[in-house]
Amino acid sequence: MFERMREDIQAVKERDPAATSTVSVLLNYPGLHSIWWHRGVTGPLHRAGHVFLARSVSQFVRTWTGVEIHPGATIGRRFFIDHGMGVVIGETTIIGEDCTLYQGVTLGGTGKESGKRHPTLEDCVVVGVGASVLGNIVLGKGSKVGGGAVVIDDVPPNSTVVGVPGRVVVRAGERVEAIDLHHEDLPDPVVEMFRCLTRRMERMERRLATDEGLGAERGEPPFPPAVEEAPAGAKAQESEPIGFEAEGWYWQI
Ligand SMILES: CC(C)(COP(=O)(O)OP(=O)(O)OC[C@H]1O[C@@H](n2cnc3c(N)ncnc32)[C@H](O)[C@@H]1OP(=O)(O)O)[C@@H](O)C(=O)NCCC(=O)NCCS
Repeated sequence: MFERMREDIQAVKERDPAATSTVSVLLNYPGLHSIWWHRGVTGPLHRAGHVFLARSVSQFVRTWTGVEIHPGATIGRRFFIDHGMGVVIGETTIIGEDCTLYQGVTLGGTGKESGKRHPTLEDCVVVGVGASVLGNIVLGKGSKVGGGAVVIDDVPPNSTVVGVPGRVVVRAGERVEAIDLHHEDLPDPVVEMFRCLTRRMERMERRLATDEGLGAERGEPPFPPAVEEAPAGAKAQESEPIGFEAEGWYWQI
């Protein structure tokens, strides 16, 4: 037990530059106190079947640490909760080794699931201030959740997820290219279709005009009236495939 307490204190010193001495860590880190109560009292009570008592003690611990860890949660070694206030860890949460949470983090359920309904954090996961990680999802080893994110899907290992809803911006150490959101530059297929139809109608009208001219030579009445003269090369265009390129796309009709 003392060995594990010693490594907890060491973890705080390594991860928080403000942790200047062992005495300071022992006295001023409510996150650490809540973990020790969970490991030494509420967790064992819960496993022994004293569910109500375990829950009551954990609520008492919450009143002075600001951290609510459900007694049923499974927590690995060297877990560090910095600042503590406002952290909620649900009953079926599983936390691996060397994980870190900042204040205001919720590891909760979505309200739609039963059974295993809280997240699983693999080793070395960091969840930033105020982030919500919801549902039976897995945050892969070494992943980071940005402050304020709301994560509702699995996160691959060594990835960074930010925003609401959470999106992966770094995967396996590589930046993920942002999605092009320039809606104003998107091709409009309906407009392009009308343009294409207009061009085809013009070609047909030119053909009719040409045919009408031949008919006039043969003494036939003009029908329909010619709109414009067919340009040179009009015949050659007739054998072109039906379709066109625009905005980097090939439009086939
Ligand atoms: C997410 C975080 C861990 C940085 O991870 P990282 O892998 O180094 O990612 P980067 O800093 O390279 O940022 C990647 C992108 O995400 C954006 N980003 C970073 N943190 C973000 C956040 N919390 N919310 C929204 N976007 C964020 C960056 O602007 C960047 O965007 P860009 O690609 O358009 O430039 C960090 O920003 C963070 O939020 N840490 C939480 C720390 C904390 O809670 N501290 C409390 C102390 S009391």
